[in-house]
Amino acid sequence: MRDFPIGVFDSGVGGISTLASLVKLLPNERFIFYADHKYAPYGVQTKESIQKHVFRVVDYLVNRGIKALVVACNTATSAAIDDIRDIYTFPIIGVEPALKVATDSNTDKKIGVMATPLTIKEEKFSKLCSRFKNSFDIELFPAPGLVELIENRDENGIDEFLIDFFRDKYMSNFSHLVLGCTHYIFVKKNIQKIYPHLTIIDGNSGVARHLKKRLTELNLLQTTNSFDIEFVSSGDISNVEKMREFFKIAKTLL
Ligand code: DGL
Repeated sequence: MRDFPIGVFDSGVGGISTLASLVKLLPNERFIFYADHKYAPYGVQTKESIQKHVFRVVDYLVNRGIKALVVACNTATSAAIDDIRDIYTFPIIGVEPALKVATDSNTDKKIGVMATPLTIKEEKFSKLCSRFKNSFDIELFPAPGLVELIENRDENGIDEFLIDFFRDKYMSNFSHLVLGCTHYIFVKKNIQKIYPHLTIIDGNSGVARHLKKRLTELNLLQTTNSFDIEFVSSGDISNVEKMREFFKIAKTLL
């Protein structure tokens, strides 16, 4: 079992930012990264259709033989992680907007959370927010349309989107921005360029630490160096090359 790969998935390239954090902390492991390009983006679909996608992807990864699963997608985590945990016994780690990290810094300014419409709408996120909303001023920013621009590496489109998106949000009143979608980490620098005062937070290093802890507890860590990443996409085969490129970028963002 220790030699089995770790399955990681997202609707597309976003979860590759999570994968880079996993590889950094677990450099001896084998990974299969699955991007569900054929059915992306997830964040504007219904909970039921996302659950269907997640079960199909997890089924594929389980058939490949994995020792742990990382749901490197906030949207899929909100929509389906409880259901897959009901079925499988191997460690399943999800990713959620890292609100706790922002609130730990004790700011008296506002905290913004940028995520997909589905993540923001879901009960899982409302519960998370309710833990902090009496002590902090939290504003939620659904950002439909950004995922597609990131997938297409449309740099001009991304900058135009962001300027327009933040126009009416008075970002000078905010100290922190939590990126609650793994795709958005690829535009962290673009946002930081517009708003240098913002502390921009993502949950990837926490996910990697959590996975390492679970694998250690279960004695499932690789003992010899077997590092490998296999990229799989449900969409066009050309996506595999694109995913390799995104992995190179993701390593520079750590
Ligand atoms: N990267 C995903 C997330 O973290 C999903 C983006 C999408 O497909 O809408 O939510």
